Amino acid sequence: MAASKPASKTAPKLARERAKQLRTEVEYHNERYFVEDEPEIADADFDALVRELRALEAEHPSLVVPESPTQRPGGQVSSTFAPVRHRVPMLSLDNAFSHEELVAWAERVQKIVPGEITFVAEPKMDGLAISLQYENGALVCAATRGDGVTGENVTENIRTIGDIPQQLKGSRVPKVLEVRGEIYMPLAAFNELNRRQGEVGARLFVNARNAAAGSLRVKDVSITASRDLSVFCYQLGAIEGGPRLRTHQETLAWLRELGLPVNPEISAFDSLDGVYEFVARMEAQRHSLGYEIDGVVIKVDDLGQREEMGFTSRAPRWAIAYKFPPEEKTTRLNDIMVSIGRTGRATPFAMLEPVFVGGANVSLATLHNEDDVARKDVRRGDTVIVRRAGDVIPEVVGPVLAKRPKGAKKWKFPARCPVCDQPLVRVEGEANHHCINADCPAQRVQRIVHFAGRGAMDIEGLGEERVRQFVDAGMLLDIADIYTLHFEKLVGLERIGAKSAQLLLDAIEGSKQRELWRLLVGLSINHVGPTAAQALARALGHLDRIAASSDEELVAVEGVGPTIAQSVQRFFALDANLAVIDKLRDAGVNLEGPEPSAEPRDTTLAGRTFVLTGSLERHTRDEATAEIEARGGKVTSSVSKKTSYVVAGESPGSKLAKAEQLGVTILDDDAFDALLENGPTEDEASK
Ligand code: IVH
Repeated sequence: MAASKPASKTAPKLARERAKQLRTEVEYHNERYFVEDEPEIADADFDALVRELRALEAEHPSLVVPESPTQRPGGQVSSTFAPVRHRVPMLSLDNAFSHEELVAWAERVQKIVPGEITFVAEPKMDGLAISLQYENGALVCAATRGDGVTGENVTENIRTIGDIPQQLKGSRVPKVLEVRGEIYMPLAAFNELNRRQGEVGARLFVNARNAAAGSLRVKDVSITASRDLSVFCYQLGAIEGGPRLRTHQETLAWLRELGLPVNPEISAFDSLDGVYEFVARMEAQRHSLGYEIDGVVIKVDDLGQREEMGFTSRAPRWAIAYKFPPEEKTTRLNDIMVSIGRTGRATPFAMLEPVFVGGANVSLATLHNEDDVARKDVRRGDTVIVRRAGDVIPEVVGPVLAKRPKGAKKWKFPARCPVCDQPLVRVEGEANHHCINADCPAQRVQRIVHFAGRGAMDIEGLGEERVRQFVDAGMLLDIADIYTLHFEKLVGLERIGAKSAQLLLDAIEGSKQRELWRLLVGLSINHVGPTAAQALARALGHLDRIAASSDEELVAVEGVGPTIAQSVQRFFALDANLAVIDKLRDAGVNLEGPEPSAEPRDTTLAGRTFVLTGSLERHTRDEATAEIEARGGKVTSSVSKKTSYVVAGESPGSKLAKAEQLGVTILDDDAFDALLENGPTEDEASK
């Protein structure tokens, strides 16, 4: 498929050809999206094609033909289900992608209906449209949108969805009601479904919308029944009987009264300013709603005004969809590489053709570990969907199989470290591979950078670039070598003048007096972060004493659990580590803590139990456990009513759904970090 090009000032012949090509492409992708439930490009890429076509048609009105996808709602009917002709066509919505486009829409509205206008703003659900028909209160038929005129009969599938009433309730049930809404899959259900799919080696769904469509549009209704689908109703279709309704707000209130689910986030505003605040709020909350939205739909509230405005051939003039900037785009995966971290952890990542997504240029995206790559089955040369949501690190969602180059081979985890060429090892039961060569230069650089970093010995001027330079020059083999650097050695190097050499040496000298806990953090002992380091330093008072402590003595330290204790012991059992410590001692680095004291330990999380699920962005599972234990909390493996918190990272398992069911507090990465830092809020503390 050709990439989009700007359409300004296109010569007529070229314009005609390009329009034809765009129409074919848009039709093709419409079919992949609506019929196959397997889109090949991200929604944002699709929108760009439609916009280009629209711009061309605006520039050359003779190119507008009735069959152009710009003149019809998207979608087609498949032959899997019986056709249902909609009594009132199911149209699409026009889109606005910026504040200006929203203002331009409001101006058009105002031109047709001068005077006061109330706007209703609703989250734009990213699911699939459904039409539900009730006769005398009983559900008789449910249909997808199809091509807008004819949809597919999915009544039996819809009957399996618990949220959709089979029978309407209340005293104002009409003779005939056709109501429209969006079928969606809550994110917790989507993640759980993909986890189950992964377990049995089945294909993963690329997003919740696809999962919803793929779960509803299946012949075998037991599949639909096993999937957790839901609905929000937002619109009336054909109706006979029922109350006189004057506004959209009244309509929604009535739908609620009949027992139909209506999104509680919907609000009304007398000005566009309010609408814009709502848009900003929704955008900020987008990831905590529990379901996917891709924008906000803004509608004129007054039904009389709506009538005056009417429709174009594909969409009402009284509503517009304000689309959020895309968080998913398609791009080419050029290669899969492995990076080695400070602890030797080998993390696969994708090298991508740079793409602007989620507000940033992305050329690298994590692939977490071997199982993640296998689950997603991404291969070199694949076109992939890349996602960057909020400030979460970019990730590859999955491949676009239809675009896979012939002969693309399954990716295999490299057997050897890309930096030191020693074997990479994956211990049974663990998700990650490690380079276990303690001399690996990649680890060395990362360990030294960590030692000199702000959170540890805080040596200004010794960042990653410098460390790499010194390691490459053979001047640093381990952290203790930092204290052997001297003026003559430094000024001989590229990009280092006398002044910066002296500044660096002063900073190094200053670091010798840092507190013991900082040194402990700097040693890169697994699970020993600042909290555990402070607890150890406070309780045991000297590095030698910590090194000589038995398991029991370590566990007896307030805030140190078995995970940390074991890791500390393992570290000090290695001669190579003891040799480094001797070098630090000889260099005059402080190994002493404050006087051991009976100072109260950190007990901010005492009495609280945590369950961890999914992978956290900033902590490994062990680190998170250690941080919790260091504050007196406990980590258990199953969720019950007694669980205080479920910490849910990326791809959480069924534990998240269970937590939601039981009403247990759920923490994401940020909330977890805030809890570690500040302890429970007053509200929580009283629970
Ligand atoms: S109102 C005449 N409200 O977005 C069309 N649509 O891109 C009236 N959608 O086809 C639709 N959330 O499937 C409306 N709150 C909402 C919506 C919504 C999602 C979908 C709907 C529509 C599509 C257009």
